[in-house]
Amino acid sequence: MAIDTSLSHVFPLGSRLNERGHLEVGGCSALELAREFGTPAYVVDDEDLRARARAFRDAATQSGHPDLAVVFASKAFPCTAVLRLFAHEGLWCDVASAGELHLALRAGFPAERIVVHGNAKSTQELEMALAARVGFLVIDNFDEIERLAGLLAGAGAGAGGRAGGPPQAVLVRATPDVRGRTHEKISTGQADSKFGFAMDDIPLAVERIERIEGLRMMGVHAHIGSQLLELEPFQRAVEELSTLGRFPVWDLGGGLGVAYTAEQRPPEIEEYVHALVAAARERGLGEQRLLIEPGRALSANGCVTLYEVQSVKRNVSTWVAVDGGMSDNLRPMLYGARYEAHIVDRPFGSTPCVLTGKHCESGDVIVADARLDEPRAGDVVAVPATGAYGYAMANNYNGALRAPVIFCAGGDARAVVRREGLDELTARDVA
Ligand code: LLP
Repeated sequence: MAIDTSLSHVFPLGSRLNERGHLEVGGCSALELAREFGTPAYVVDDEDLRARARAFRDAATQSGHPDLAVVFASKAFPCTAVLRLFAHEGLWCDVASAGELHLALRAGFPAERIVVHGNAKSTQELEMALAARVGFLVIDNFDEIERLAGLLAGAGAGAGGRAGGPPQAVLVRATPDVRGRTHEKISTGQADSKFGFAMDDIPLAVERIERIEGLRMMGVHAHIGSQLLELEPFQRAVEELSTLGRFPVWDLGGGLGVAYTAEQRPPEIEEYVHALVAAARERGLGEQRLLIEPGRALSANGCVTLYEVQSVKRNVSTWVAVDGGMSDNLRPMLYGARYEAHIVDRPFGSTPCVLTGKHCESGDVIVADARLDEPRAGDVVAVPATGAYGYAMANNYNGALRAPVIFCAGGDARAVVRREGLDELTARDVA
């Protein structure tokens, strides 16, 4: 079988092989980045993130829809520099906890461009959202409505000094009973889901919300799942939502899938936006405000993780063990997610290898079916498409120190998050 020696579309947009055949990301040699910043490291081409933000914005403009806001789902890459970049690009931000709200505000998102989610918001989280005066609070369940009623009735202090101010705009999250093809653990649109109100319960929820002074019922939200590679379920969700009545705001959630390996061909950003806008128009929502909440499609492909090979072992398989793994990328372990891997100075090989992490579990495999060029200890390996839910779900398993985030563009590289230190593993100990 001939080896394809061109970089696949899973790499950041500006990536290339330099004259020596070595991988470059954002104009920086991956080998030199590994030397300068150490491994493992998340290497982000920040121009790639900007380009994708613009692709969403331009698609929104070209679609002809009068009011379509692009909301970055911050859970995908909750790092201040990434959030700041998307805030500068004029995006909105979706947060799902007090922590994410804190990060979004600190990174410079104006509160009115923040959408607050959560199926189990605490009283403190509701208070924080009200006090910040966020753009939209998305109500998930009846208990939350009651709690908000109590907070808003119980004087200003409880609602973050809200009494007397403008009412908080709210959306209700609906579960449209639409299932897209994706991993069961990240499918959320089915009727039997922990998220949102059943469709039949929406009228009652709306009625209760409308009775609460201090809340302003504005619209409906649905997020049917993540890493969806087909457009049809998104359109079906719009159809289902449109049966709920007339509201000024429709938040269609996120979920557009990305390519993790060369053979995957997800819909283009433009196709996705146009399909949603067309579905909305067909259902009489052509003039209403629309929100979409991409996370992965904005950040996944802008990042590669660099690792150093620590050992190569040959038994039944060839085991290539690197200095990271399930502590910097849980996705293979959680969802059986597949990735590519390339040795940065010999990117194309034919030796079947298992690229494995350093953690004390056999399931700690990064790429089960890698093809590498005679791997040896000391090689630097790049795993592309790690910019969504990698850093976000990083952990300290086995005392792993969380990896730095390096921004590279135009040949310059700088750390925007440094590597964790050993002292930080005990920083919270109080005894
Ligand atoms: N909006 C809401 C309300 C969400 O819950 C999510 C993702 C998004 C937007 C963004 O979805 P995206 O465009 O990124 O697919 N850890 C999993 C993904 C969990 C997604 C949870 N919610 C993974 O690594 O695949």
